[in-house]
Amino acid sequence: MGGMQGNCMECMEEGRQSAAEGVVGEETGMATSGVEDVRFHGRRKSRPLKPRQQRLMRELLPRLRVVLPEAGQAVEDACEDAWPPVAGALLDPAGLFAHAPRQVGLEIGFGGGEHLVHRAARHPEWGFIGCEPFVNGVAKLLGQIEEQQLANIRIWDDDARVLLPRLRSESIDAVWLLYPDPWPKKRHQKRRFVNQRNLVQVHRILKPGGMFFFASDIADYVRWTLRHVLAHGGFEWMAEQADDWRSPPIDWPGTRYEAKALREGRKPAYLLFRKVGESGADNLLAT
Ligand SMILES: C[S@@+](CC[C@H](N)C(=O)[O-])C[C@H]1O[C@@H](n2cnc3c(N)ncnc32)[C@H](O)[C@@H]1O
Repeated sequence: MGGMQGNCMECMEEGRQSAAEGVVGEETGMATSGVEDVRFHGRRKSRPLKPRQQRLMRELLPRLRVVLPEAGQAVEDACEDAWPPVAGALLDPAGLFAHAPRQVGLEIGFGGGEHLVHRAARHPEWGFIGCEPFVNGVAKLLGQIEEQQLANIRIWDDDARVLLPRLRSESIDAVWLLYPDPWPKKRHQKRRFVNQRNLVQVHRILKPGGMFFFASDIADYVRWTLRHVLAHGGFEWMAEQADDWRSPPIDWPGTRYEAKALREGRKPAYLLFRKVGESGADNLLAT
Protein backbone atom coordinates (compact mmCIF):
# COMPACT_ATOMS: atom_id res chain seq x y z
CA MET A 1 0.00 0.00 0.00
CA GLY A 2 3.15 2.11 -0.09
CA GLY A 3 2.51 5.81 -0.39
CA MET A 4 -1.26 5.75 -0.37
CA GLN A 5 -1.84 7.14 3.10
CA GLY A 6 -0.22 10.45 2.30
CA ASN A 7 -1.40 10.66 -1.25
CA CYS A 8 -5.12 10.18 -1.21
CA MET A 9 -6.07 13.74 -0.36
CA GLU A 10 -3.59 15.03 -2.96
CA CYS A 11 -5.13 12.61 -5.39
CA MET A 12 -8.58 13.97 -4.64
CA GLU A 13 -7.43 17.48 -5.42
CA GLU A 14 -5.68 16.25 -8.54
CA GLY A 15 -8.77 14.32 -9.57
CA ARG A 16 -11.05 17.28 -9.00
CA GLN A 17 -8.68 19.53 -10.91
CA SER A 18 -8.44 17.07 -13.79
CA ALA A 19 -12.19 16.77 -13.88
CA ALA A 20 -12.62 20.53 -13.83
CA GLU A 21 -10.10 21.04 -16.58
CA GLY A 22 -11.35 18.13 -18.63
CA VAL A 23 -7.82 16.76 -18.58
CA VAL A 24 -7.52 13.06 -18.11
CA GLY A 25 -4.17 11.59 -17.15
CA GLU A 26 -2.63 8.64 -18.90
CA GLU A 27 -3.19 6.47 -15.84
CA THR A 28 -6.96 6.66 -16.19
CA GLY A 29 -6.82 4.96 -19.56
CA MET A 30 -9.80 7.04 -20.68
CA ALA A 31 -8.28 9.50 -23.07
CA THR A 32 -5.46 7.19 -24.02
CA SER A 33 -6.54 3.60 -24.64
CA GLY A 34 -10.24 4.44 -24.76
CA VAL A 35 -11.14 0.78 -25.28
CA GLU A 36 -12.51 -1.39 -22.53
CA ASP A 37 -11.71 -5.08 -22.58
CA VAL A 38 -15.20 -6.59 -22.39
CA ARG A 39 -14.30 -10.26 -22.08
CA PHE A 40 -14.51 -11.77 -18.60
CA HIS A 41 -10.97 -12.63 -17.58
CA GLY A 42 -11.59 -13.95 -14.07
CA ARG A 43 -11.98 -17.57 -12.99
CA ARG A 44 -15.42 -19.13 -13.41
CA LYS A 45 -14.65 -22.22 -11.34
CA SER A 46 -11.98 -23.74 -9.10
CA ARG A 47 -12.49 -26.84 -6.90
CA PRO A 48 -15.31 -29.29 -7.65
CA LEU A 49 -18.45 -28.48 -5.66
CA LYS A 50 -19.40 -30.62 -2.67
CA PRO A 51 -22.66 -32.61 -2.90
CA ARG A 52 -24.53 -30.07 -0.76
CA GLN A 53 -23.28 -27.23 -2.94
CA GLN A 54 -24.30 -29.12 -6.06
CA ARG A 55 -27.79 -29.50 -4.61
CA LEU A 56 -27.98 -25.79 -3.81
CA MET A 57 -26.85 -24.87 -7.31
CA ARG A 58 -29.46 -27.21 -8.76
CA GLU A 59 -32.39 -26.40 -6.47
CA LEU A 60 -31.92 -23.03 -4.79
CA LEU A 61 -30.08 -20.99 -7.42
CA PRO A 62 -32.87 -21.19 -10.03
CA ARG A 63 -35.27 -19.74 -7.42
CA LEU A 64 -32.97 -16.83 -6.61
CA ARG A 65 -31.46 -16.11 -9.99
CA VAL A 66 -32.17 -12.72 -11.58
CA VAL A 67 -33.96 -13.30 -14.87
CA LEU A 68 -34.05 -10.45 -17.33
CA PRO A 69 -37.32 -9.47 -18.95
CA GLU A 70 -37.78 -10.21 -22.61
CA ALA A 71 -38.03 -7.39 -25.10
CA GLY A 72 -41.62 -6.20 -25.25
CA GLN A 73 -42.29 -6.57 -21.52
CA ALA A 74 -42.78 -3.18 -19.82
CA VAL A 75 -39.98 -1.15 -21.32
CA GLU A 76 -39.19 1.48 -18.71
CA ASP A 77 -36.62 3.72 -20.29
CA ALA A 78 -33.89 3.74 -22.85
CA CYS A 79 -30.36 2.93 -21.88
CA GLU A 80 -27.67 4.60 -23.87
CA ASP A 81 -23.97 3.83 -23.81
CA ALA A 82 -24.50 0.25 -22.72
CA TRP A 83 -22.39 -2.79 -23.21
CA PRO A 84 -23.64 -5.10 -24.57
CA PRO A 85 -26.18 -3.01 -26.49
CA VAL A 86 -29.51 -3.19 -24.68
CA ALA A 87 -31.86 -5.46 -26.58
CA GLY A 88 -34.57 -6.21 -24.01
CA ALA A 89 -36.68 -4.33 -21.54
CA LEU A 90 -35.25 -2.87 -18.36
CA LEU A 91 -35.77 -4.62 -15.06
CA ASP A 92 -37.21 -3.01 -11.94
CA PRO A 93 -35.07 -4.72 -9.29
CA ALA A 94 -37.52 -4.13 -6.40
CA GLY A 95 -39.93 -6.42 -8.23
CA LEU A 96 -37.56 -9.38 -7.77
CA PHE A 97 -38.42 -9.62 -4.08
CA ALA A 98 -41.59 -10.90 -2.44
CA HIS A 99 -41.59 -8.02 0.07
CA ALA A 100 -41.20 -5.25 -2.60
CA PRO A 101 -38.41 -3.42 -0.76
CA ARG A 102 -38.15 0.34 -0.77
CA GLN A 103 -34.36 0.04 -0.87
CA VAL A 104 -32.25 -2.20 -3.06
CA GLY A 105 -28.49 -2.72 -2.80
CA LEU A 106 -26.22 -4.26 -5.43
CA GLU A 107 -22.83 -5.88 -4.84
CA ILE A 108 -20.50 -6.42 -7.78
CA GLY A 109 -18.13 -9.38 -7.40
CA PHE A 110 -19.28 -10.61 -3.97
CA GLY A 111 -16.65 -13.39 -3.82
CA GLY A 112 -17.75 -15.69 -0.97
CA GLY A 113 -20.66 -13.39 -0.09
CA GLU A 114 -19.50 -12.37 3.41
CA HIS A 115 -20.45 -8.72 2.99
CA LEU A 116 -23.72 -9.44 1.20
CA VAL A 117 -24.88 -11.92 3.83
CA HIS A 118 -24.00 -9.52 6.63
CA ARG A 119 -26.02 -6.68 5.07
CA ALA A 120 -28.95 -8.90 4.17
CA ALA A 121 -29.18 -10.34 7.68
CA ARG A 122 -29.10 -6.89 9.29
CA HIS A 123 -31.48 -5.26 6.85
CA PRO A 124 -34.28 -7.69 6.05
CA GLU A 125 -36.37 -4.75 4.81
CA TRP A 126 -33.88 -4.14 1.97
CA GLY A 127 -33.48 -6.26 -1.12
CA PHE A 128 -29.95 -7.20 -2.25
CA ILE A 129 -28.64 -8.35 -5.60
CA GLY A 130 -25.25 -10.02 -5.73
CA CYS A 131 -23.29 -10.37 -8.97
CA GLU A 132 -20.59 -13.03 -9.19
CA PRO A 133 -19.59 -15.25 -12.14
CA PHE A 134 -17.33 -17.45 -9.93
CA VAL A 135 -19.33 -20.65 -9.35
CA ASN A 136 -17.61 -21.61 -6.09
CA GLY A 137 -18.41 -18.16 -4.67
CA VAL A 138 -22.06 -18.48 -5.70
CA ALA A 139 -22.23 -21.92 -4.06
CA LYS A 140 -20.75 -20.50 -0.85
CA LEU A 141 -23.31 -17.71 -0.78
CA LEU A 142 -26.14 -20.19 -1.37
CA GLY A 143 -24.96 -22.19 1.65
CA GLN A 144 -25.22 -19.08 3.84
CA ILE A 145 -28.60 -18.10 2.43
CA GLU A 146 -29.93 -21.53 3.31
CA GLU A 147 -28.33 -21.65 6.76
CA GLN A 148 -29.50 -18.19 7.75
CA GLN A 149 -32.83 -18.45 5.94
CA LEU A 150 -32.29 -15.15 4.13
CA ALA A 151 -35.21 -14.12 1.94
CA ASN A 152 -33.83 -10.85 0.59
CA ILE A 153 -30.94 -11.86 -1.71
CA ARG A 154 -31.14 -12.42 -5.45
CA ILE A 155 -28.21 -13.61 -7.53
CA TRP A 156 -26.85 -12.65 -10.92
CA ASP A 157 -24.35 -15.45 -11.50
CA ASP A 158 -22.64 -13.75 -14.39
CA ASP A 159 -20.72 -10.65 -15.41
CA ALA A 160 -22.17 -7.52 -13.77
CA ARG A 161 -21.50 -5.60 -16.98
CA VAL A 162 -24.30 -7.56 -18.63
CA LEU A 163 -26.80 -6.84 -15.84
CA LEU A 164 -26.14 -3.16 -15.19
CA PRO A 165 -27.39 -1.85 -18.54
CA ARG A 166 -30.59 -3.89 -18.08
CA LEU A 167 -31.54 -2.32 -14.74
CA ARG A 168 -34.02 0.48 -14.66
CA SER A 169 -32.60 3.97 -14.10
CA GLU A 170 -32.67 5.28 -10.52
CA SER A 171 -33.66 1.91 -9.09
CA ILE A 172 -30.73 1.13 -6.78
CA ASP A 173 -29.87 2.74 -3.44
CA ALA A 174 -26.34 1.49 -2.95
CA VAL A 175 -23.65 -0.21 -5.03
CA TRP A 176 -20.68 -1.98 -3.45
CA LEU A 177 -17.49 -2.85 -5.32
CA LEU A 178 -15.17 -4.47 -2.79
CA TYR A 179 -11.62 -5.53 -3.58
CA PRO A 180 -12.17 -5.79 -7.33
CA ASP A 181 -9.51 -7.61 -9.34
CA PRO A 182 -6.66 -5.08 -9.46
CA TRP A 183 -5.10 -5.99 -12.82
CA PRO A 184 -1.81 -4.36 -11.80
CA LYS A 185 0.06 -4.70 -15.10
CA LYS A 186 -0.24 -1.61 -17.25
CA ARG A 187 -1.34 -3.59 -20.29
CA HIS A 188 -4.16 -5.20 -18.27
CA GLN A 189 -5.54 -2.06 -16.65
CA LYS A 190 -8.24 -1.75 -19.29
CA ARG A 191 -9.80 -4.81 -17.63
CA ARG A 192 -10.40 -2.94 -14.36
CA PHE A 193 -14.06 -2.69 -13.45
CA VAL A 194 -13.78 1.00 -12.71
CA ASN A 195 -13.91 2.80 -16.03
CA GLN A 196 -16.12 5.47 -17.51
CA ARG A 197 -18.47 3.04 -19.23
CA ASN A 198 -19.23 1.16 -16.01
CA LEU A 199 -19.41 4.36 -13.97
CA VAL A 200 -22.01 5.72 -16.39
CA GLN A 201 -24.11 2.62 -15.65
CA VAL A 202 -23.55 2.75 -11.87
CA HIS A 203 -24.52 6.41 -11.88
CA ARG A 204 -27.59 5.80 -14.03
CA ILE A 205 -29.01 2.99 -11.89
CA LEU A 206 -28.44 4.80 -8.58
CA LYS A 207 -31.31 6.77 -7.14
CA PRO A 208 -30.64 10.45 -6.52
CA GLY A 209 -28.42 10.56 -3.44
CA GLY A 210 -27.57 6.86 -3.82
CA MET A 211 -24.21 5.59 -2.67
CA PHE A 212 -21.29 3.94 -4.45
CA PHE A 213 -18.84 2.27 -2.10
CA PHE A 214 -15.42 1.06 -3.22
CA ALA A 215 -12.75 -0.70 -1.17
CA SER A 216 -9.32 -1.89 -2.20
CA ASP A 217 -5.92 -2.63 -0.72
CA ILE A 218 -4.13 -1.74 -3.96
CA ALA A 219 -2.94 1.87 -3.80
CA ASP A 220 -2.78 2.30 -7.54
CA TYR A 221 -6.38 1.11 -7.98
CA VAL A 222 -7.57 3.44 -5.21
CA ARG A 223 -5.98 6.42 -6.94
CA TRP A 224 -7.31 5.21 -10.30
CA THR A 225 -10.82 4.99 -8.87
CA LEU A 226 -10.69 8.46 -7.36
CA ARG A 227 -9.53 9.89 -10.66
CA HIS A 228 -12.18 8.10 -12.68
CA VAL A 229 -15.06 8.79 -10.32
CA LEU A 230 -14.20 12.46 -9.90
CA ALA A 231 -13.64 12.83 -13.64
CA HIS A 232 -17.11 11.36 -14.22
CA GLY A 233 -18.55 14.39 -12.44
CA GLY A 234 -21.73 12.78 -11.14
CA PHE A 235 -20.38 11.71 -7.76
CA GLU A 236 -19.29 13.49 -4.64
CA TRP A 237 -16.56 11.91 -2.49
CA MET A 238 -17.86 11.85 1.07
CA ALA A 239 -14.48 11.87 2.87
CA GLU A 240 -13.88 14.92 5.04
CA GLN A 241 -10.78 13.68 6.83
CA ALA A 242 -8.21 10.95 6.28
CA ASP A 243 -9.82 8.59 8.78
CA ASP A 244 -12.95 8.54 6.63
CA TRP A 245 -11.14 6.57 3.94
CA ARG A 246 -8.56 4.83 6.13
CA SER A 247 -11.09 3.22 8.44
CA PRO A 248 -13.93 0.91 7.51
CA PRO A 249 -17.48 2.10 8.13
CA ILE A 250 -19.13 1.18 11.42
CA ASP A 251 -20.51 -2.35 11.49
CA TRP A 252 -18.19 -3.43 8.69
CA PRO A 253 -18.07 -7.22 8.23
CA GLY A 254 -14.89 -7.38 6.16
CA THR A 255 -14.44 -9.76 3.26
CA ARG A 256 -12.17 -12.68 2.50
CA TYR A 257 -9.91 -10.53 0.33
CA GLU A 258 -9.75 -7.84 2.94
CA ALA A 259 -8.64 -10.37 5.57
CA LYS A 260 -5.93 -11.60 3.18
CA ALA A 261 -4.72 -8.06 2.56
CA LEU A 262 -4.54 -7.31 6.28
CA ARG A 263 -2.68 -10.58 6.95
CA GLU A 264 -0.16 -9.63 4.29
CA GLY A 265 0.31 -6.14 5.73
CA ARG A 266 -1.59 -4.10 3.12
CA LYS A 267 -3.90 -1.38 4.37
CA PRO A 268 -7.26 -1.01 2.65
CA ALA A 269 -8.87 2.24 1.63
CA TYR A 270 -12.64 2.75 1.75
CA LEU A 271 -14.09 5.27 -0.69
CA LEU A 272 -17.68 6.35 -0.30
CA PHE A 273 -19.27 8.39 -3.10
CA ARG A 274 -22.71 9.88 -3.27
CA LYS A 275 -24.56 10.37 -6.51
CA VAL A 276 -24.93 14.07 -6.95
CA GLY A 277 -28.52 15.18 -7.14
CA GLU A 278 -31.53 15.18 -4.89
CA SER A 279 -31.24 13.17 -1.73
CA GLY A 280 -33.50 10.16 -1.76
CA ALA A 281 -31.66 7.10 -0.56
CA ASP A 282 -32.16 5.82 2.94
CA ASN A 283 -28.47 5.56 3.47
CA LEU A 284 -27.24 2.57 5.39
CA LEU A 285 -23.72 3.16 4.13
CA ALA A 286 -23.29 6.26 6.22
CA THR A 287 -23.86 4.34 9.47
C1 LIG B 1 -10.55 -10.08 -5.80
S1 LIG B 1 -12.13 -10.84 -5.74
C2 LIG B 1 -12.93 -10.04 -4.35
C3 LIG B 1 -14.11 -10.80 -3.85
C4 LIG B 1 -14.86 -10.15 -2.68
N1 LIG B 1 -15.44 -8.89 -3.07
C5 LIG B 1 -13.94 -9.99 -1.50
O1 LIG B 1 -13.63 -8.84 -1.16
O2 LIG B 1 -13.54 -11.01 -0.90
C6 LIG B 1 -12.96 -10.07 -7.12
C7 LIG B 1 -14.25 -10.79 -7.47
O3 LIG B 1 -14.92 -10.04 -8.47
C8 LIG B 1 -15.49 -10.95 -9.40
N2 LIG B 1 -15.64 -10.22 -10.66
C9 LIG B 1 -14.67 -9.81 -11.50
N3 LIG B 1 -15.19 -9.18 -12.56
C10 LIG B 1 -16.53 -9.19 -12.39
C11 LIG B 1 -17.63 -8.71 -13.15
N4 LIG B 1 -17.42 -8.10 -14.33
N5 LIG B 1 -18.87 -8.90 -12.69
C12 LIG B 1 -19.08 -9.53 -11.50
N6 LIG B 1 -18.09 -10.00 -10.73
C13 LIG B 1 -16.84 -9.84 -11.16
C14 LIG B 1 -14.49 -12.10 -9.47
O4 LIG B 1 -15.10 -13.30 -9.95
C15 LIG B 1 -14.03 -12.18 -8.02
O5 LIG B 1 -14.81 -13.10 -7.28
